[in-house]
Amino acid sequence: MNKSIKNICCIGAGYVGGPTMAVIADNCPDITVNVVDINKDRIESWNSSNLNELPIYEPGLDKIIERRRNKNLFFSNKVQENISNADMIFISVNTPTKKKGLGAGKASDLKWVEACARQVARFAKGYTIVVEKSTLPVKTAEVIKTILEAAELNNACKNLKFEVLSNPEFLAEGTAINDLEFPDRVLIGGENEDAILSLHKIYRNWVPEEKILHTNIWSSELAKLTANAFLAQRISSINSIGALCEATGADVREVARAIGTDSRIGSKFLDAGPGFGGSCFKKDILNLVYLSEYFGLPEVANFWEGIVKFNTWHQHRLSRLIIKKLFGTVSGKKICILGFAFKANTNDTRESAAINICKDLIEEGAILFIHDPKVDPKQIEIDLEKKEKYSNNKLKNQTQTLSEGGWYSTKNIIDSSDGADAIVVLTEWEEYGQLDWEEISRKLRKPAWVFDVRSIIPYDKIKALDLNFWKIGDGSK
Ligand code: UDX
Ligand code: UDX
Repeated sequence: MNKSIKNICCIGAGYVGGPTMAVIADNCPDITVNVVDINKDRIESWNSSNLNELPIYEPGLDKIIERRRNKNLFFSNKVQENISNADMIFISVNTPTKKKGLGAGKASDLKWVEACARQVARFAKGYTIVVEKSTLPVKTAEVIKTILEAAELNNACKNLKFEVLSNPEFLAEGTAINDLEFPDRVLIGGENEDAILSLHKIYRNWVPEEKILHTNIWSSELAKLTANAFLAQRISSINSIGALCEATGADVREVARAIGTDSRIGSKFLDAGPGFGGSCFKKDILNLVYLSEYFGLPEVANFWEGIVKFNTWHQHRLSRLIIKKLFGTVSGKKICILGFAFKANTNDTRESAAINICKDLIEEGAILFIHDPKVDPKQIEIDLEKKEKYSNNKLKNQTQTLSEGGWYSTKNIIDSSDGADAIVVLTEWEEYGQLDWEEISRKLRKPAWVFDVRSIIPYDKIKALDLNFWKIGDGSK
């Protein structure tokens, strides 16, 4: 049954579901795309007439939403109705690491995926292709399949028929639209050729034939986990060498450039920084660890777990280093944190290195002024598990009276530098590369430090000023 798809439903309007469906709708004007979510606020934001209020910040996304919304792209909470009408259903819900029970701390919690499969089983009509879009542990498709097969048997009179495909998404946040428009590859895993072809035809509207790969379903699931594990491993590798550079007088950027010219290694993903964050890397590696343990391969599990352990160690290493440079104590000292998102061009803070680093500094009594152009202070509050001390306009000159750790959000970097002992750059937002360092230097309390954890501050703008400068992986100064 090579089905021509006219109506798509995507369950989950998150960082993956939202942009992915927008790009499909944009490239396939004949297909109606309904994105549904149980979260009412999120759907309201997707439908906001003010495009600055979309729940996700992604360059280029607003333009597509403007073009397609309410034409062939719809956002709603009508889960049941849209499942019923769909020929193809994408499952794109979150799969957080389990907090308790079997596999706690490592395995993914699949309760949302299972709930979606049950909803699909209940409300779908006729022949429906179910596509797993969330990154999932290997063999999850089997769970979805088993639930759907039970529905086929129980509702024999309704002529229900399901096919399950795995179609992992490789987009990176901040470049989601470009990654979706020009993917390195599209992976479709499945058993049924016709179902694979139906999805293949959708992507062929804009993706070249040779970039669409077909695999079996388990290879597709494992390939996604492996891609993320390899990428994360590169970052831990370069950060480990960065620490060695600092200790020995080398410069990690020079080392990265030298090894990156080796075509077998390649030059991408070799930027030393505060350690990887984001919703996927840690979670996916821990999934690999869990799978390896489950299948009796403890050495494989230990190998991958080491990458995550190193990343956490590296983040705490940075907070310890800042404290050490500030004469061994940050108690009552004002520190400006530039950047809270896990990388530039996103408002996402999941697993951001800034969380551990800020928590450590607050724990040591520092007073943090946190700036990020896109992150909502309410999110920072959730991440730091600590309420903001005062709102920004009330805080002038009050730092002296605060002795305990706490934090404020700020929109003005220059004002916040007033009396601060240090500036710490944690996210590579472009604007941080263009700051007025003369003005900032005048405001800082001397001796003051600038910690550039993203190699974004031009040293020539700083070297003549009365500032101490530290850059990640640079042992040459
Ligand atoms: C990402 C990736 O898609 C996924 O591969 C990874 O496993 C987890 O993180 P993302 O889109 O970034 O997912 O997640 P998120 O932004 O949290 O969006 C998921 C959405 O699904 C939420 O809006 C949530 O409300 C919704 N949801 C969850 C449902 O609509 N129904 C459910 O039953 C559960
Ligand atoms: C990642 C994968 O790249 C993507 O293919 C997958 O679909 C989801 O997970 P994402 O988490 O959005 O995407 O961001 P990515 O650009 O990979 O960066 C992850 C983290 O690594 C960020 O904290 C980033 O700052 C850090 N990073 C990346 C480095 O520290 N150095 C680098 O050279 C590259």
